[in-house]
This record gives sequence, structure tokens and C-alpha cells, in this order.
Amino acid sequence: MKRILFLTAVLLVAATALAQIPQIPGNGHAMLKIHVTGRYLLLPVQESVNNAAVQVISGGEQLQSFNVRLAADKVDYYVPLDIARFGKEELLLDIMFRGERTSRNDLEGYECWKGIRQSDSFDTGNRERFRPVYHHTPVYGWMNDPNGMFYKDGLYHLYYQWNPYGSQWENMTWGHSVSRDLIHWEAMPTAIEPDALGTIFSGSAVVDNANTAGYGRGAVMAFYTSAGRNQTQSSAFSTDDGKTFTKLPDNPVIVGDIPDFRDPKVFWNEDAGIWNLILAAGQEMRIYSSRNLKEWKYESSFGEGYGCHQGVWECPDLMKLDVRGTGVQKWLLICNTSGLPAGGSGTQYFIGDFDGHRFTTDQKETLWMDYGKDHYATVTFDNGPDGRKVALAWMSNWQYAGVVPTMQFRSANSVPRDLDIFEYGGGLFCGSTPSKELLAMRGSKVKQPTEACEIIVDIKDATSIVLSNPKGEKVIIEYNPKDRKLFVDRNLSGDTSFHKDFPARTVAPVHGVIKQLRIFVDRCSVEVFDSEGKTVITNLVFPSEPYSLLKVKGGKATIYAYGNS
Ligand code: FRU
Repeated sequence: MKRILFLTAVLLVAATALAQIPQIPGNGHAMLKIHVTGRYLLLPVQESVNNAAVQVISGGEQLQSFNVRLAADKVDYYVPLDIARFGKEELLLDIMFRGERTSRNDLEGYECWKGIRQSDSFDTGNRERFRPVYHHTPVYGWMNDPNGMFYKDGLYHLYYQWNPYGSQWENMTWGHSVSRDLIHWEAMPTAIEPDALGTIFSGSAVVDNANTAGYGRGAVMAFYTSAGRNQTQSSAFSTDDGKTFTKLPDNPVIVGDIPDFRDPKVFWNEDAGIWNLILAAGQEMRIYSSRNLKEWKYESSFGEGYGCHQGVWECPDLMKLDVRGTGVQKWLLICNTSGLPAGGSGTQYFIGDFDGHRFTTDQKETLWMDYGKDHYATVTFDNGPDGRKVALAWMSNWQYAGVVPTMQFRSANSVPRDLDIFEYGGGLFCGSTPSKELLAMRGSKVKQPTEACEIIVDIKDATSIVLSNPKGEKVIIEYNPKDRKLFVDRNLSGDTSFHKDFPARTVAPVHGVIKQLRIFVDRCSVEVFDSEGKTVITNLVFPSEPYSLLKVKGGKATIYAYGNS
């Protein structure tokens, strides 16, 4: 009896294993038949191999296509492919491998065939010691720019550039999270997926309070770049507060004439009584207008001869802001690009005037919103409460974003910042003040830094702040009032070995005198703000254990533990 049971068990195991053996009709090409029994197909990923192109097929019809680094000789992690949603019993995965070691023989020995399996659940429990406590991260997979952010009925919606099939950039899709307080985020189902027009690059969303588009009062309209054979702009609407979107039948809605043509940001222009859209086109910004959010008229371009032109311009934003203490308002144009003084990606800005048609400025200098290395793709929430302009950035840099030492997820957002404009020395500058919601995160006062905390330093004069751990890894913050400079040095901050451009001493100009610094420490980041929001430096750090020691010269520190710690 025992023997029979044993034999049956062997046969059963063989049957499941057999189902995973692919047919290999030619070099680089595998076909895997799936009899659907579970919700997900778990796919084993090896980060160091090339992407394989997967088509999910049923009855000769392509249901989905995406790229995934299927494991050749070791499994780094799994990603879930939702196979239940197609409602089919039989599916075929048609997989094209590229690069070396992809002959028929090589493919037969691939590790992935042993690992692919079906499951009704996917374990999203946190396995990363660097996952931030109070910064937004995707539950798994790669994330870059924040997209489509809007506020409605007490909820902040954050969409983001997401790869659902791995922790490196690929398969751009809009992931979605919501929050009541800009700090605690809840993951929502995928919002917008790639289609025949392309993958879904960055863009924005607006709340159509006056029903100008005809989808109903309070409908949400999203605008994004379809990254296909060329980059074009498409649109989708939502009548369930941004949970699901329906793409417009006549997409794309804006077609351009150059390859880098993307990242539409739409906003209601109260003064002009029209909608405006601004997008990045090569190294300039193009501005459009519309009355119904569907037909767009080109108005003008801005950029030639202004600011930093070391790379393409990306992810614009345009908004009217108060100039502190003056009763005057000016327009801020945000332009994310490479050429940051510390190297790589950063957020430059221009302050000027805008009449709904043309943006003008007499700004001569190149100005950056944050002088740290990890503050990119900054944009603001539409429809913010009390007219607030709350910004979030992607807390990374294209120089090394794909190799930072995390795997279950890659990249977080910055803490939320309220934007305004201030005057200093005859010039106008963008202010970034930590949003008031962060105050609610302050827990008890503690003597030493914790892995997630806020350090407040009341400044007396020249100040030096050393945040370190018992291993001697440290972040050095220095304020020099004479030269009006703030420094944050992460050369010895922990693991910096994964990329040559990671070690850095970042420096920011100081506008006026800093009276107090607010330093936001989370498991893999340090954001240093002048409390008045006039200078900011954001940097990632990967210490081998949390910083638990603090030395301050020239100032007095108070530390608040953060989150639930
Ligand atoms: C900026 C960016 C955008 C683009 C997106 C693609 O980081 O390059 O211009 O839409 O990322 O993921």
C-alpha cells in the first residue's frame, strides 16, 4: 500500500513537472503550454540575463505581451503573471530569448522551467531591509517617475512608472497607490497597461470638476505618452475616481514630429479659463490649450537659450504660486533633465509669467529644486486641497537607479513638499517645504537616531553634523554661513560600490541664513531641508546597519523617532 502511494506521488510530481517542459522549435524560441489551475503564473527572474519577449496566446490570439528576464542559471526572485484574468483554460506562452547561450540545447537546461509554477497568491511580504518606513514604494518591481497625481474626496492618488515583471526598467505601466495623509500608502490594482500604441510612459491626470469633457462632473482624465514606434500622447478617462481607466477611441490625441516627445502635464488655467497641457519635446517644452480636454491646440514652445541643456528635457509641470509675503503671484515651470551639478538627473526650474499661451522669463541662472543626487521627475498633485501645490519626486538618479542594492522593489518617492516662491537678493527662487502631514509622523523624542527618524538641528553658526553607525559608516552634513553653502557628503555612507557615480559630496547654495535644519532619515535616504524650505539636498544611502549615532557641532539637535518605531 505504501508503495502504491509513493508511486502515485511520483507520477503526480512528474505530471506537474511535465507541464512546465517547453517545446523548443528553434534556437532562442520556446513554447510553453499552460493548463490554468491557479490565479498567477509565478515567473523566475534572473536580473543579469537579457529580457525574453513573452506573448500570452489563446487560440492564436495574442492576449498580452511583455518582457521578462527569465532565469537561465539562478533565480533572484519571482514575479506574478495574472493568468486567471483571461478567463481561459489553456494558454500558450510563446517566448523569444535573445543574446548568447540561447541555442536549443542551452534553452533546455534553463533554470526557469523548474521554477515556473501556478499559485493563487503572490507573497508581497517585505523582504528588503532598505525598504523605507515612511516613503512610498511599489510593493514589488521597478518604479520611476510619479505620474497622474491628483487629490479628490480626501484621497491622494499616486500613479507611477512601473514594471510589474521585474525590478529593472521595462514594460512601462501605470501602477497606482492611494493615501489619506501623503505618508501611508495603499497599493491599488494596476491602472493603465500597455497596448498596441505602446507602453505607458509618464503623464498626468486632472479632476474635471466642471464636466468639460462630457464624462461627468468629477470624472478623472489621464494623459500619458504612448511609447510605441514613436512617442505620441494618449488619454483615458475614469468614472470611478481613478480606479479603472477607459482609453479614448481616437488615441493618440497629440502626434509630434520628433523622437523625444513626452510626459504631458495638464492643468486648469483659472486666469485664462482654459485647460493647458505642457509636454517635453527634445530640449524644449511645448504648450497646448483645450476647452474640452480632448482637442488640443499648439500654442508655443519654451526653452531655447534658457537653463541647462545637457540632455533631453522631461516631465514638465507649470503652475501659479504665491511669492512669499508679497501678495504677488508668479508662474513656476518645472523641467526635469540631466546636468545636475552633482551629476545625472535633477529638477531645474524657471520662474516667470504665463498667459495661457506663452511662458516668458527673464531668469538668467540655471536653478535646481534640490541639489542632492536623488530627486528627479518632480511633479505636483492636481486639485490639491486649499490650492496647495504638493510635489513628489522619484528618489533616484538615472545614473545608477537600476543597480541600487535592493531587489524586491527598486526606488521610492521623496517626502511630499509644498511648493511656493520666495525672493532673495533680488532673485526669485522655488521654495520646497516639507508638507505639514509629516509632522503627524513624529513619534517620541529619542536620544539617538533610529532607522526612520527626523532630526531637527537648531543652528548657531557654522555647523557640522555627523550621522554614523558603529561600523564607522557616515553621512556628513556641513553648513557654512560665510560662503552660504550646505554640504551633504555620502562618500563613506555605506555601500557605494555598486556604481562609480554613487559616491558624492553634494553642495547647495543657501539663500539667506539657515536657522534650523530638518533632516529626514529613512532606511535608505537622507533628505536635508532648511526648515524654511529655501534649500534642499536629497540623497540615497545604503548603510550596512542603521545610523544610530549623531554628533553635532555648532547647533542643537532634537530627534523624533518616525512611523510606528
Ligand atoms: C523620466 C522618463 C520620462 C519617461 C519615463 C519612462 O524619468 O524618462 O521622460 O516618460 O521616464 O519611464
